[in-house]
Amino acid sequence: MATEATADDTDDASDAPDAYDALLDRVQRWNAVGSASGVLGWDQQVMMPEGGTPARSKQLSALSSVHHDMVTDDETGELLDELDDADLTDAQAAVVREVRREYERADAVPVELVEEISETGSEALQAWEEAKAEDDFDEFAPYLEKHVELKREYAEHIDPDRDPYEVLFEEFEPCLSMERAESILTELREALVPMIGDIRDSDVELAVDTFEGTFPEETQEELSREALELVGYDFDRGRLDVSSHPFTAGNQFDCRVTTRFDETDPLGAVGSTVHEFGHAQYNLGLPKEQFGTPLGQSRDLSVHESQSRLWENHVGRSRAFWEQFLPVFQEHFPQTEEATVQDAYEAFNQVYEDNFIRVEADELTYHLHIVIRFEIERDLIRGDLAVEDVPEVWNDKYEEYLGIRPETDSEGCLQDIHWSHGNFGYFPTYSLGSVMAAQLFDAAEDEIDDLDAKVADGDFDDLREWLDENVHRHGSRYETNELVKRATGEEFTANAFLDYVDEKYGELYGI
Ligand code: CO
Repeated sequence: MATEATADDTDDASDAPDAYDALLDRVQRWNAVGSASGVLGWDQQVMMPEGGTPARSKQLSALSSVHHDMVTDDETGELLDELDDADLTDAQAAVVREVRREYERADAVPVELVEEISETGSEALQAWEEAKAEDDFDEFAPYLEKHVELKREYAEHIDPDRDPYEVLFEEFEPCLSMERAESILTELREALVPMIGDIRDSDVELAVDTFEGTFPEETQEELSREALELVGYDFDRGRLDVSSHPFTAGNQFDCRVTTRFDETDPLGAVGSTVHEFGHAQYNLGLPKEQFGTPLGQSRDLSVHESQSRLWENHVGRSRAFWEQFLPVFQEHFPQTEEATVQDAYEAFNQVYEDNFIRVEADELTYHLHIVIRFEIERDLIRGDLAVEDVPEVWNDKYEEYLGIRPETDSEGCLQDIHWSHGNFGYFPTYSLGSVMAAQLFDAAEDEIDDLDAKVADGDFDDLREWLDENVHRHGSRYETNELVKRATGEEFTANAFLDYVDEKYGELYGI
């Protein structure tokens, strides 16, 4: 079997069929258009004055339609047909597989429907903002209803014979089966609901007040830069800026991160900076010579999120990391000079069992916020739940899984932006990423001598290299489960994550 092929056949374009070269050339051009949109998007969120919006919207929409036309052009289809039975290396076959998937999806859906969804998105976004501010779900409901209908229609164009939610999930996660994803989410629910109940009943008091007080934003920004220096961010190929929602944008040559600051929550900024570093490190580790081809592009959202969560949770929230970082922190914020590494560890890992808001959740309850959204959107798209029933079902699930009941829809089903964009199937990728992070980190710990001691020493070279070697350099060559299997020797499951949280929170809360 040729599955043992390694990087040595990736680049051998010399004997590739002409149709392959022609296809690759097209793909690189449309991906250049895509990455140019990315720069404009970054600028819009970080630098652009507010007045620039009308021009920027037109620029982005023009590029998006150029991109769509290039992907769906007849020639793309003809080249793919020609390559149907061609003799290709494993790497070339992976490229063709990725391009074919993109082409078939784009080609299946009528442009008018794509445009209608995009217009509904703009209206829905505005309605959602108002509904959230006024705590009035009824104002948003008709738009959510419209999105559900349009997205069902969208899924039907792609494959009328399959579960529409599965088809939509594949938009974000084309290389991971819904069955595996659903079984992981179910395992999370079954394990975490009782664990969080036990934490609620535990009388352990963590040292959470050590980091209370006011922490000026400018100093937090200096600290974020130091954190990035420490973990090894390449500032020659990146930069740090501030935006209202932290994000990462770019490629192997230029990948930028943003973070945000809250004067009362300096640990939050450290966490989100290190999180975005993990995303950036992935893109920066993609092979340079494959820029613009699927072999030079990251795998899908769950794999991307696995990289950010690995750095945020398994590095940034570890005791070892704080042995190195606490003195740096205290230098910037002398008011915490009494704090110990254990205090920092406890403060950073406390469980907020009474919190309603997903983006403010801890590492543990976070997944129940996701499971709730997943179950609701799945049932909406499958036609098993009516839009008007969403608020009540939402609150019931919060009560059942987390033991809390939101009193308003603003802090309930109106809190997230995703559904106003018509993004159904996106939420699960967050949890899947965390679960994957635990499995990858477990394997890295097995293979790197004294990783914990190295982290405590501020030496992250081996970990960065392990991730490059096992994840980043492959781009989209392998499908998700295959990538995880190659990196860890096991299928992608929740086992490592569940062991990790069991041990960590068992010790923290004495449960
Ligand atoms: Co992320």
